[in-house]
Amino acid sequence: MDQIYSRLFFACNCGYRYRSAYRANRIGHRANNSIALHTNYDYGNNVPPSVNYDRIECYPFKNMVEENCTASGCLWDSVNGYPNCYLPDSSVYGYEIDGELMNLPDEAGFKIDIRRRRNEDDSIIFSLYGGDIDQVTFEVNYYSDSTLSFAFYPKNEDRFGLRPPVTVTPPTTGVTEDIQYEVQLSSNEKGQPFNFQIIRKNSGAVIFDTSMGGLTIAEQFLMISTTLPTHYLYGFGENTHDTLLHDMNYRMWPIFSRGQAPGKRDVNAYGAQPFYMASEEDGSSHGVFLFNSHAMDVTTMPNPGITFRAIGGMLEFFVFLGPQPESVVKQYGDVIGRTFMPPYFALGFQLSRWGYKNTSEIRDAIDRTRAVEIPHDIQYVDIDYMDKRRDFTIDPVNFADLPALVDEVKRDGLKFGIILDPAIAHELFGYPPFSRGDKDKVFVQWANSTYKPDGQAANDNNLYGRVWPRRETAFPDFLKNATKQWWTEEIRLFHEEQKLNFDLLWIDMNEPSNFLTGTLLKCPPNRWDDPPYETMAANVGATGRLSEKTICMASLFGEEDEFLHYEVHSLYGHSHAMATQSAVRQVLAGKRSMVLSRSTFAGSGKYAGHWLGDNYSTWKQMANSIIGMVEFNMFNIPYVGPDICGFNLNAEEEMCERWMELGAFYPFSRNHNSFLFKDQDPGEWPDTVAVSSLKALNIRYRLLPYLYTLFYDSHTVGGTVARPLYHEYPMDINARSIDKQFMWGPALLISPVLQPGETSVEVYLPEDVWYDYYTGIRITASGSNTFSAPRDYINLHLRGGYILPAQKPALNTMISRNNNFELLVPLDDNNYAIGKLFWDDGESVNTIEDGLYQINTFEFSGETLNIKVEKGSGDAWGGISQLLDTIQFMGWSSEPAKISVNGADVETTLYEYNETSKNLFLFYKFSMNEDYVVEFR
Ligand code: GLC
Repeated sequence: MDQIYSRLFFACNCGYRYRSAYRANRIGHRANNSIALHTNYDYGNNVPPSVNYDRIECYPFKNMVEENCTASGCLWDSVNGYPNCYLPDSSVYGYEIDGELMNLPDEAGFKIDIRRRRNEDDSIIFSLYGGDIDQVTFEVNYYSDSTLSFAFYPKNEDRFGLRPPVTVTPPTTGVTEDIQYEVQLSSNEKGQPFNFQIIRKNSGAVIFDTSMGGLTIAEQFLMISTTLPTHYLYGFGENTHDTLLHDMNYRMWPIFSRGQAPGKRDVNAYGAQPFYMASEEDGSSHGVFLFNSHAMDVTTMPNPGITFRAIGGMLEFFVFLGPQPESVVKQYGDVIGRTFMPPYFALGFQLSRWGYKNTSEIRDAIDRTRAVEIPHDIQYVDIDYMDKRRDFTIDPVNFADLPALVDEVKRDGLKFGIILDPAIAHELFGYPPFSRGDKDKVFVQWANSTYKPDGQAANDNNLYGRVWPRRETAFPDFLKNATKQWWTEEIRLFHEEQKLNFDLLWIDMNEPSNFLTGTLLKCPPNRWDDPPYETMAANVGATGRLSEKTICMASLFGEEDEFLHYEVHSLYGHSHAMATQSAVRQVLAGKRSMVLSRSTFAGSGKYAGHWLGDNYSTWKQMANSIIGMVEFNMFNIPYVGPDICGFNLNAEEEMCERWMELGAFYPFSRNHNSFLFKDQDPGEWPDTVAVSSLKALNIRYRLLPYLYTLFYDSHTVGGTVARPLYHEYPMDINARSIDKQFMWGPALLISPVLQPGETSVEVYLPEDVWYDYYTGIRITASGSNTFSAPRDYINLHLRGGYILPAQKPALNTMISRNNNFELLVPLDDNNYAIGKLFWDDGESVNTIEDGLYQINTFEFSGETLNIKVEKGSGDAWGGISQLLDTIQFMGWSSEPAKISVNGADVETTLYEYNETSKNLFLFYKFSMNEDYVVEFR
């Protein structure tokens, strides 16, 4: 069987046929999970290297003993903290040059053929998991001065056929003399070991270097190792990290989407984000994206280095040279897609709960929130609203008046979000969403009809699992056009027939999750559910198989059923988010909405935001949420935040109070929890949590114009919204490891209390000009400081040199958007500051494309503030009717004798200077639609 497979595989020169090869071999057989013990390897003239510490582990998870290790061709040496069984280096194991270097057209890169290292008798030296591909092409593409890719694929194969079915858009600018990198091969002489390096030209830093060996391209096992020029490594997801910086001591991280709550060590959570960033010695940063949707794991190594092990597809990497951390994120966003532009209301505070028993309980929560005057923009309803937990139904008893409630609360400016799960109840009668979907063949099929459970009808090849509905469920395949149409139609019908005027969709369980895989849904043994190397992703749960908590790998996806779940598992949430975003756009025609997705892949930020899943109400998880949030910003999914106050466990008052203060600064700010635990909306504690929440949320609402402008930048040119300090201060070694503070854009520093009983907090201030947000007073200290932080107070600092647009807060954004604007102007040491405001109606689609927006720029230099208006080109854009009525300068040295606006003197009653705080307030009323020159003498 394996031979047949191999022949098909090698004969194939197109992606589709390659995929058919997978299918041709779908007949179940138990994969040989025991290692092959080769005794006939022969190093020939290649003497194994002396023992070194650059070790790539052989056979992770096999608990190797010396005898098996050496018999398999690997080296053995027992050293504490290092793998004992490890691979020989690339002069022994790996690939050798097997052809001439060929330039790509326009010298936009090159290709070279390579083949496995050989014994003297021309056999390959040894195989780790079988299925090795002997002849491989290595191709490097130079896309721009800062972005390149490299890929390994079977010689003569169409490499695009091996890619995940996800669009990437590498730059087409090509390279100039300012190219930042150089790619060097170890040799281009036939028979010599193949390694390569990517070098940053200006510093000589070697940012990717495969000379430690280990390269393997096999049917179901792809491995590559690189040394890194630095120990400062960030990224990879979705996992729970206790520190933003990676531990480089052989920590392994699985990458494979799974409905797995955050907090557990060593498991993969909801999404798959194979991307890392590293900060080099001179402060330059680079980023690396492995474009592969198979299960994989990554291992850090102390040399420092990384090993990737994936179980299919292609090793295709995109490398981004930055050099600023934010330019790395932008370059990555150019390739995978930048964030969607959220509607303005999505920046407001949001309330949710699983466990509202009926509409009155939702109303109570809204009333409690109003009673304490907490701003509130979105209310959610969880699966409780459904009839028997089925999508597109409403519980006729407890939620019959949900549509009426939604319409009622929306009159006051609140928006409504509802949850939809992908799994569809298998009901043949009386539940049209299933029967319509089945008729349109939208559901995932078994890869082999013999895998079906006994008793399933011969003409029904759907794979059924069990999720929320109280019966079996089928899983829509969102890679099919028919499914996208069916999903849109179901959403449209639900919206129209039930008159349920939701504003956004919250999509969940899309890893896809399944309950009790292994008992209720059995995946028969086969080479996809039991691959020879299962990755660390399978090292989980009761079954210890990839299918744990999800559906079987041997099931079919794609327009022509051309993909196995094995290949596209981690794209389920991504394709669900794409389909849902498109559906919502059609159903809520003209209105900007948003989709919130639990599972994501690289590029999902273009379609959806993300919440960090079913966390716990603990101080530790509160602290870790900052790490998850800034990581997703690096992954180009800036609309992100965790369940504030925690999903599981009863939220304790002080913790919830601190978490609400921190949560006021997540880009996505929502309090949500599980039905098993008590209500935790701030109104539950009117005298404590509510009071502190209100203070923090009023600051959020005041700064929403700044936050919205950050999203505009992220959407149009890329980059993060919430970011780690290291992104702004890459040269500051201390900043590189700060993960208990974060920033909004370049200008606002947030330093929450993350410990019980504390009324002070350690705040690290990088060398710069900083002002206390509350008093506007310049902070003279730098470095680490202990600042007071009473229970109702979160430390916030403004960075000199930036101008932040603001607006008076209100109970929701519908109201706050109509208030007048203000500017916060913390000056730097050169008396300079710059900033801008992006503004549109906040709720129509395509305002940017249609020119229905404006940008006001603000620049203060020396003695002059310039305000300029750039209007979009759309005729229907009428400008901004609110005025700018307050400008607060911080760090103003002495009272001005005179202020003029466009040459006319301003009355002295319209400004106020505070000698102690060195703040100057100007209360002149500016139109937002005119240019001004404001002079200070
Ligand atoms: C999942 C979600 C959670 C939701 C629950 C019920 O656990 O992650 O947010 O409340 O399902 O729908």
